[in-house]
Amino acid sequence: MCGIVGYIGPKSLDSFLIVGLKKLEYRGYDSAGIAIIDKNELVVRKSTGKIVDLEKLIENDKFDGHVGIGHTRWATHGAPTKINAHPHTNQAQTIAVVHNGIIENYTNLKKDLINEGYIFISDTDTEIIAHLIEKYLKTEKNFENAFYQTILLLEGKFAIAAVSEFEPEKIFFVKDGAPLIIARNTTVKESFLASDLPALVPIAKESCYLENKQWGYMNNTDFKLYNWNHEPVKLQFILIDLKIEQFEKGKYEHFMLKEIHEQPSMIRRILANRIKDGIISFNEFKVGDEKLKKIGRILIQASGTSLIAGKLGKMYLENNSRIYTEADFSSEFRYRNPLVEGDTMVVGISQSGETADTIAGIHEAKSKFLRVISFVNNVNSSMARESDGIIDLLAGPEIGVASTKAYTAQLVNLFLFSLYLGRLNGNLSETELERNLKELMTIPEKIEKILNNIDPIIKIAEFLKDQKDTIFLGRTFNYPTSLEGSLKLKEISYIHASAYAAGEFKHGPIALVSENLPVILTVPNSEIRPKILSNLMEVKARLGKIITIVTEGDQEIIDLSDYHITIPDIEESLSPLLAIIPLQLLAYYTALFKGCNVDKPRNLAKSVTVE
Ligand code: AGP
Repeated sequence: MCGIVGYIGPKSLDSFLIVGLKKLEYRGYDSAGIAIIDKNELVVRKSTGKIVDLEKLIENDKFDGHVGIGHTRWATHGAPTKINAHPHTNQAQTIAVVHNGIIENYTNLKKDLINEGYIFISDTDTEIIAHLIEKYLKTEKNFENAFYQTILLLEGKFAIAAVSEFEPEKIFFVKDGAPLIIARNTTVKESFLASDLPALVPIAKESCYLENKQWGYMNNTDFKLYNWNHEPVKLQFILIDLKIEQFEKGKYEHFMLKEIHEQPSMIRRILANRIKDGIISFNEFKVGDEKLKKIGRILIQASGTSLIAGKLGKMYLENNSRIYTEADFSSEFRYRNPLVEGDTMVVGISQSGETADTIAGIHEAKSKFLRVISFVNNVNSSMARESDGIIDLLAGPEIGVASTKAYTAQLVNLFLFSLYLGRLNGNLSETELERNLKELMTIPEKIEKILNNIDPIIKIAEFLKDQKDTIFLGRTFNYPTSLEGSLKLKEISYIHASAYAAGEFKHGPIALVSENLPVILTVPNSEIRPKILSNLMEVKARLGKIITIVTEGDQEIIDLSDYHITIPDIEESLSPLLAIIPLQLLAYYTALFKGCNVDKPRNLAKSVTVE
């Protein structure tokens, strides 16, 4: 997944392009570049590495153009080299394009163009776009038509921006399957485009999220938008009401640490928004209670951390609303032709709302005429627009590639939704509702207590940073906790981490235990505590290093642990909301002590908009 920016206006181009790209760097950071129309001439600068490397490259350039595009890359086709960095141009270097997504039919298109004598220099799919525009310029009467004929040929998912010497005052754009926002500040006559809002806050004042198969162009005062039949489409701008502080690290060294510490206030905000006088409501939800009452089965589909939240969502929904629920990887769900009935509802969960696999899962559900609701952190995202109903996570922007607050926001919203459905279909008593809500209200303060006692976590991170392998174990509600704790550790510290349902461990994986192998067990107060205690003893008998997430005061477990982190006592089903906090921090400090790039881990991107 990559980041695209575009700017037309009186400001120094490179300043917006570079600043905008830095704010989108979480979308991809293996190479970057800009294309500027400078005194009617196309100038392209690009480099491998971070945006700062590009910034250094252009520090002595004196551009005075006011039309330009930029790109930060997460490599899909072609290694992260300077040649493969965007923007890509036609041979004459009069057209430059940047692209997020994948052109699935690029091989055939490239072959045809090579046969017609076009010379390619990169291994990317993107380069064909610039050559196709040049080719169509020979037959079409203007750049607009040449751009249109080009995009009609493309298959796959893409967001593209193009500048050229043929239309030096315009940026052309198209959106189909990857996010693209156009924006403006009419006071100073500026027009913008970007893959995501962080690049636009605070200088753009109004934004318009493009729909799939919309394209057009912009100059510094006007926008033209068309549908796929080249018919004009009315533009609707909305005010951007986000603050720049939401996209800045503030007093924290990393976005990930900031977002971990934001969780108590975030959960308070969600609870205040969702619960009024003991009544749960989802105001943004557009699916009526009568329809919800008829839901007999729920299929949850999501990816990564969001699927792990979905696994807990399954347990919450079956516990509290007694509705049969499954949770599956989007990338599996979309191909397995799931058994469905008329009363089946599909639930998508996604922080970005742009994960290609999860969007494809929605398309699969729609092909079976199923109702789809999505839990998303961006209510303007592609997923939000393609769902029958949405539940806003209310997590606020999450910039760190490793998801933290979005995960706990997903859990809180899924838990509330399970209570709401349980009351609606009569499977949850008023007393049970009150008891659950009362327990839920204690979460923010209990998370704060964990956040205020990080020394034991730092001590364990000092030990973990030198390890090659780790194992996470948990049962029932905390099996997903182990999955999420292991995902956090591996994706930012690059230490191998496996997670198992603790009861399964003795059926094979326990062979992995050797002396000093760190085994991290989540073992809060619960009915199954004795069973996890047996798993702990099985590991101890084989000289594994015992690290536990344990309820404060549980001296028996503490005495058996080599290291332990305590969490406040809480109802078992809600313990994942507490147990994950030390595991988020453990991953953070371990990665920090290893010198890893916590906010931008290698090989990853914040939202995977390719399949
Ligand atoms: C989580 O830390 C990862 N960055 C990744 O697994 C992520 O959860 C997954 O790609 C899904 O993203 P989404 O929630 O935006 O759909």
